[in-house]
Amino acid sequence: MMSTVQDAGVAHMPRITVVEAYDGLSQRAADVVAEVLGEKPDAVVTLPTGETPSGMYKELVRRITSKELDFSRAQFFCLDDYLGSTPEDDASLTRWLRSEFLVPGNLPEGNIHYMPTTAEDPDVAAAGFDREIAELGGFDLAVVGLGPNGHIGFNEPGSLPTDPTRVVDLEEATLSQSAAYWDGKATIPTQAMTTGLGTILKSRRIVLIVSGKRKAEIVRAALEGPSTSDVPGSWLRQAGNRLEVILDREAASLLTIK
Ligand code: PGA
Repeated sequence: MMSTVQDAGVAHMPRITVVEAYDGLSQRAADVVAEVLGEKPDAVVTLPTGETPSGMYKELVRRITSKELDFSRAQFFCLDDYLGSTPEDDASLTRWLRSEFLVPGNLPEGNIHYMPTTAEDPDVAAAGFDREIAELGGFDLAVVGLGPNGHIGFNEPGSLPTDPTRVVDLEEATLSQSAAYWDGKATIPTQAMTTGLGTILKSRRIVLIVSGKRKAEIVRAALEGPSTSDVPGSWLRQAGNRLEVILDREAASLLTIK
């Protein structure tokens, strides 16, 4: 069961899709990826890491393996990673992404754009990353998750909707989220490199996926609270109808419009 709230006929408002449970969220997110690639096989996409997109990746790999989906011409950009981390490190979002999606999905290595987290000059490299995205025509699709503190990628509270890809300091809340994610087994760097909100907001299509009751309050703040740097996710609303928010019932439970 899927319900879509188009925000009472206001065409420029984000589309909010509420599905019953996590599996529906994964299916819907995979459907959007497939739709974008169906229209443009060499689309430029960025997809997130974390617990939330895990089901979407399983579904994408299933579709790629069964030849329902062709990802071989897409240009894939990593969304974020810890500064200085390499895929050999315990805490590496790139390593996670490789094992969950890039390798089983058989993406051509030449089409994958890694975060330059080990560059000698990370600031210059981050600017180069944005330039590369722009030279390919910008993102056709950005799928992102929402952190417990409202972050998008690693655009932490304090981030602006114009921010470029850059090096950021991670907040305590993100460091504990990360530590829990790696079962406390990895040392989490206190800095990261993230695709900027400004870069994400230029995307032709943006999908925000959020699951579970523990995110219900931050979902409400991001979608119904003021647009503020305190909740970076709230800036996504600037994308208007280029944004689709996919929520399961629990994540949507505190919204007034649902
Ligand atoms: P999660 O992370 O999917 O692991 O909850 C989302 C995020 O922090 O962007």
